[in-house]
Amino acid sequence: MLLKQLFDQKTYTYTYLLADPDSREAIIIDPVRERVDRDLRLIAELGLRLTYTLDTHVHADHVTGSGELRRATGALSGVSASAQVACVNRNLVHGDVLRFGPYALEVRSTPGHTNGCLTFVIEAGGQTLAFTGDALFVRGCGRTDFQQGDAVTLYRSVHEQIFRLPGDTLIYPGHDYRGHTVSTVDEERSHNPRLRTDITEEAFVDIMNDLRLAHPARIHEALPANMACGLPAPTSEDDHAPPFKSITPTSLEPFTRGRVIDVRKPEERDGEQAHLPDAVSAPLSELSERALAWPREDPILVVCQSGRRSAHACALLAQMGFSDVTNLSGGMSAWHDHQEATSC
Ligand SMILES: [Fe+2]
Repeated sequence: MLLKQLFDQKTYTYTYLLADPDSREAIIIDPVRERVDRDLRLIAELGLRLTYTLDTHVHADHVTGSGELRRATGALSGVSASAQVACVNRNLVHGDVLRFGPYALEVRSTPGHTNGCLTFVIEAGGQTLAFTGDALFVRGCGRTDFQQGDAVTLYRSVHEQIFRLPGDTLIYPGHDYRGHTVSTVDEERSHNPRLRTDITEEAFVDIMNDLRLAHPARIHEALPANMACGLPAPTSEDDHAPPFKSITPTSLEPFTRGRVIDVRKPEERDGEQAHLPDAVSAPLSELSERALAWPREDPILVVCQSGRRSAHACALLAQMGFSDVTNLSGGMSAWHDHQEATSC
């Protein structure tokens, strides 16, 4: 099997190209949008035919190249079904097998860094290889403090799904920040400072709770973009209409279903009747991450003070795959005006 380990220096991300030298069929794992030209050139130089472009999870630190690679090569894109990414071709679940040439790539569910993290396992030439994404790094692991991250879940994923592979299994991580490229199950079981076998689940939780990391700089760009396979959101020039509905306060009454989301900052919501009944606060800066937990088919009404931020939020939600999104045109200002007019 042909294996190329590619690196993005800006986000410290590894992309892997796996290919069968006979049939020329290939799979790419965790492509980075800014490196798609490099990857396409390599695929062409090697005479490969890309059949799948896979993501180990919905990334928060970079935008996937899967959408652009799919357009350019006809490959099918795949990500965990748990991530609810509407644009992908394959919603992957634990136990799925993806074939290229004589090779079989096994999908293992390894949540904890996010709720939709996958590890891809393959056997080639008597050697097992595991592409672990952010579940397991060389001497580290992905953080567990956002995107439905959970330290207990990650500990169990690593110990039950990765550390039970043969000891000489090669571990290919999703990132590296210190110059490592590859490890083995035995090495990580012995030397991983967070997950080696003498560290208990409770100790691991303490380690992860104590990290106090800043959020990734690009999270609010990366999450919605990755929920759209890294492709730009449709604009009004594309389809002559924004990808969401609008209502005014006069027609607000019929909206009796679904979520009401207030994207203003918490301090703007203070005061009597300053927000709609049943409105849940999700400031615009946190919206993309909060929305990962909401079913994509839920109707959503978005409000802010004037209707401008909420329109931006609606476009963002539509990009993430929400199909029934409505903006309160004029926002809370218009709603208060309407309340005053109707109470006289
Ligand atoms: Fe990640």
